[in-house]
Amino acid sequence: MERVTLPPVPAGALFFAPMEGITDEAYRKTIMKLYPEWDYLATDFLRVPAAGHYPNKHVVRHFGKELFSSPEIQKKTMFQILTSHRSFTVDMVKQLEDLGVPWLDMNIGCPSNTVCKSQGGSYLLRDLPALAPLVRSIRQNFSGRFTCKIRIGYLDTSGFEDSIRLLNDEGAELITVHARTREDMYKAPARWDFITRAAKLSQVPVIGNGDVWATADVNRMLKETGCHGVMVARGALKAPWMAQDYRRENFYPSTAETAERIQQFFGEYRATLEADNVTPRGVLKQSKSVARFMLDDFENGAFLRRGLMLSQSVAEFYDQISKLPS
Ligand SMILES: Cc1cc2nc3c(=O)[nH]c(=O)nc-3n(C[C@H](O)[C@H](O)[C@H](O)COP(=O)(O)O)c2cc1C
Repeated sequence: MERVTLPPVPAGALFFAPMEGITDEAYRKTIMKLYPEWDYLATDFLRVPAAGHYPNKHVVRHFGKELFSSPEIQKKTMFQILTSHRSFTVDMVKQLEDLGVPWLDMNIGCPSNTVCKSQGGSYLLRDLPALAPLVRSIRQNFSGRFTCKIRIGYLDTSGFEDSIRLLNDEGAELITVHARTREDMYKAPARWDFITRAAKLSQVPVIGNGDVWATADVNRMLKETGCHGVMVARGALKAPWMAQDYRRENFYPSTAETAERIQQFFGEYRATLEADNVTPRGVLKQSKSVARFMLDDFENGAFLRRGLMLSQSVAEFYDQISKLPS
């Protein structure tokens, strides 16, 4: 497929973060249809194999079939990979190049034990001199847009500025900074001052990420840190309409509005899953995993969530969604 040309990422761009197990093609399609105000979305990471290679069919299935056939969807999507020094990185990058992938994002932030044991994700931040040739090998073999997503360190932040310099020197075209160390995992407060430091130091755009929970936080992050754009993860699971609220300056939606949007979201999500021939069991499983995040703002949110999680069928789940209090 002919590669699409990507226009520059505009200042103030909003990114819906990659989230493994959630941001698959059906979820992304739902978000793009209902909330086109998100400028960009990202795929779950594809792990570069440590031996052999994936058939193209596997790669296309992982990222999503439509992503390979629609230039409009491609323009909005970062394809993410996760690799390590032991993996067949160059082979995989060449394969993605041949498949016409326009935007490749390298995950240098994943904190999971499994990933770090195989020396990938955030583990790569432990040894910057070794990271440089790995980043270079991707850059040299990929002609599309190449970006990186990092944490501010592994155990501590002593190498942070060097990591930003390294990614600039090795040809990353944009850097997303998740403002926590690997040690912080997801709990510790995100340290936005590191986003400020990166934005000052980097020649290429810096996207800030971490602890954007409410629509007003988007503005705050842009203003306080001087970052080029904002990436939202868990806050966007809770309120997938956050980008729309941001663009419309709707900072305090009512519970009734939220209930209506949850119903609209699940109506579209279910239709997308069913159109993709997902089994009823799959529809229920996926709907539950997404719903976990969405009910915090209701007075009896924990109770409503428990009801949904205990649903035994798609009909039971969706019946409860239709009866959300407004
Ligand atoms: C369930 C879940 C899955 C995630 N999967 C990925 C992933 O595949 N790739 C990635 O770069 N980050 C992943 N992340 C990290 C988020 O993209 C983001 O960097 C992090 O959650 C911090 O942002 P937040 O404070 O807005 O949640 C994941 C986070 C969560 C909660």
